[in-house]
Amino acid sequence: MPRGLFITFEGLDGSGKTTQIKRLAAWLEGRGHPVVVTRQPGGTAAGDRMRAILLDAQGAPLAPMAEMALMFADRAQAIAEVIRPALEAGKIVLCDRFTDSTEAYQGGGRGLESATVLELHRLICADMQPDLTLLLMPNFEASLARARRRNTRAQERTGKNEGRFEAEQDAFYRRVWEKYREIAAREPQRVVRIEGDLNIEEVHEQIVETVAERLLLTVKEG
Ligand code: TMP
Repeated sequence: MPRGLFITFEGLDGSGKTTQIKRLAAWLEGRGHPVVVTRQPGGTAAGDRMRAILLDAQGAPLAPMAEMALMFADRAQAIAEVIRPALEAGKIVLCDRFTDSTEAYQGGGRGLESATVLELHRLICADMQPDLTLLLMPNFEASLARARRRNTRAQERTGKNEGRFEAEQDAFYRRVWEKYREIAAREPQRVVRIEGDLNIEEVHEQIVETVAERLLLTVKEG
């Protein structure tokens, strides 16, 4: 059985990942590829509970190390329960955030440093690497404004405030952004950056082009 393809999506809150994941999943399924869509934190029963703790803006404060440890606990569960079984069954996994998010947000944003994050990744995730990471980098201010608007709307609808990260200052997000750039520069083979003022359709086209190329390579190698 050929191993499937592991594709992760990364970017700031409000960068359009969710929309693009849905579009790519539909495109792949339309071509007969079995697809599993998941997200972090969350995506498993235990992970959804960890997500609630991690994103609750009104809950008890979390120390940065506790926050990072929970992100990895969530990821270990997702790998065991969702990601690895799907890849072993030859499926394409589309994952909304993975360890690059921990490196960018906890490593960069919280200042815990990349080395700590990467060391934990080796220990807890057996250094599992995505085949491809699509890093969405639209305009910085527009992304944040969108994420904060969306969070306010969701709070009005559900009464829950899941915006613990959206409430961070712009300086925090600048550090996250810089760390994402650093990761992309360090691993140009794996991380493809999609930048600039593009509309939803244009971003989708770039993603499809990149994924189609990787699929061809996988078929050749398999
Ligand atoms: P999202 O599902 O809307 O992308 O929200 C998840 C939030 O959690 C987002 O603000 C980024 C943050 N996050 C981290 O700080 N570290 C991580 O490792 C992951 C997966 C997410």
